[in-house]
Amino acid sequence: MAQAPTTPTLEQNPLREWLILPRSPDPSAMVIFGASGDLTARKLMPALYNLALNRYLPSGFTVVGAAVTPWSDEDFRKNMLDAVTKYSRTQPVDHQVWSSFAEGLFYLPMSFDDGEAYARLGACLEKIDRERGTGGNRVFYLATLPDFFPVIIKQIGAAKLHLESQRGTTAGAWSRVIVEKPFGHDLPSARELNDVLHTVFREPEVYRIDHYLGKETVQNTFVFRFANGIFEPIWNRRYVDHVQITVAEDIGIERRGAYYEKAGALRDIVQNHLMQLLSITAMEPPVNFDAETVRDEKVKVLKSIRPVLEQDVVRGQYGPGWVAGQPVKGYREEEHVAPDSIVETYVAMRLFVDNWRWAETPFYLRTGKRLPSRASEIAIQFKSAPHLPFQKTAVVGLTPNVLVMRIQPHEGTSLKIAAKIPGPVMRMRTVNMDFFYGSSFLIESPDAYERLILDCMLGDPTLFAREDEVERAWGLVDQIEAMWAKQPPPRFPNYAAGTWGPEEADALIERDGRRWRRP
Ligand code: BG6
Repeated sequence: MAQAPTTPTLEQNPLREWLILPRSPDPSAMVIFGASGDLTARKLMPALYNLALNRYLPSGFTVVGAAVTPWSDEDFRKNMLDAVTKYSRTQPVDHQVWSSFAEGLFYLPMSFDDGEAYARLGACLEKIDRERGTGGNRVFYLATLPDFFPVIIKQIGAAKLHLESQRGTTAGAWSRVIVEKPFGHDLPSARELNDVLHTVFREPEVYRIDHYLGKETVQNTFVFRFANGIFEPIWNRRYVDHVQITVAEDIGIERRGAYYEKAGALRDIVQNHLMQLLSITAMEPPVNFDAETVRDEKVKVLKSIRPVLEQDVVRGQYGPGWVAGQPVKGYREEEHVAPDSIVETYVAMRLFVDNWRWAETPFYLRTGKRLPSRASEIAIQFKSAPHLPFQKTAVVGLTPNVLVMRIQPHEGTSLKIAAKIPGPVMRMRTVNMDFFYGSSFLIESPDAYERLILDCMLGDPTLFAREDEVERAWGLVDQIEAMWAKQPPPRFPNYAAGTWGPEEADALIERDGRRWRRP
């Protein structure tokens, strides 16, 4: 009988050494607003459970679930166990770990605008501080519909739940708030939300989540660029022909029609995930890895983006088609979507980063739903060799060097290089030099939420978006939205589900003599 694979020990695989944390988070309690919702079940609870499993959580760590659903503590524990059983990346659930973790799960039914409920929450947190030793440290996690964010923040402020002085506990206790996306729906609303946040929390206490920053491969981009000596000298306009950044999804909008109708691909992916990938790819080397230094450099990139011209953005919407051999509906036939919706499910654009390093080097960005496959990657396409001395040599599909950082799936990095085909004559073709996370490290990468929640507990906001980053990204999105508002309504749908987007997107890059990669 085949043996189930076991995780190698530290001795068997020294690369697992990273599993040991250099420092542990302080004991704390986390209040999850929206604890009966989908995000808590799919992402937050499995992430917390896996942190518990790897012994990263501090002793006494406690979660208070807060939501309108009238659950008891027992209901909450049961529902969360179901969620972890269904969605945890590690299976089966370790019941010993779960039972001790579940002792720290509590639930408070509440309406988010009810001031008295926050007084009850405060009393509950104080009791937890006394009984579970959480020391007055608090993480407030806003996992509700975005309309509730300002309501909850104001109520936390009014009940003074964030103030150490009100707790009568350990001096030096901290409060932090994690804000889920979408962070506003345009620049004015993002600014308004930032203003509300700052009436209660200081900027270093605000953790705006973009889960792409928690992905191992996105963080590896920092390491790849700044811990290797050989790439930085060629990471610029002299050697790079252009950059392609892709976030492609084969899924549709699933059951999120009501949200997506207000968001579209521009707000859902471009404003956050694509802008983050762009800034990490294009930023200058930071002098250190402190949160402020790293984010300063990222913001400089966003500030250098040239205003986008009309001909440099293409939008699309999928019609019916086939994905993975199955017929699928068009966007307009999805649940909670208007039959004449002009919301975009695809965006492609050409951007320029106007600075010394990147002047006139195009960055082509694209994202779409219902494309043929799920693939997120950053591809750096280098210029061709200036002269080929092999005039009489047979060349089989020789292409310029491309460095691809695969964010998902098949996480890793590959470099396309020219190589001689073995044999007595000189023939050449392009081959891949590949690094795969899975086979190199022999461990499964943690989920992005595990890393980000742990960072928040440790008080490290490096991988969270700062106020000015979010606002700059909205500035670009608003500029595009304003441009679209002046155009006649687009003729949607303009690509069939299961294809690589509208023809205009191909034209956008082909007019520069280049082509989209097929990830
Ligand atoms: C979310 C978007 O932020 O990212 C979703 O709202 C999208 O529409 C998801 O599907 C993609 O994330 P991932 O981690 O699956 O690439």
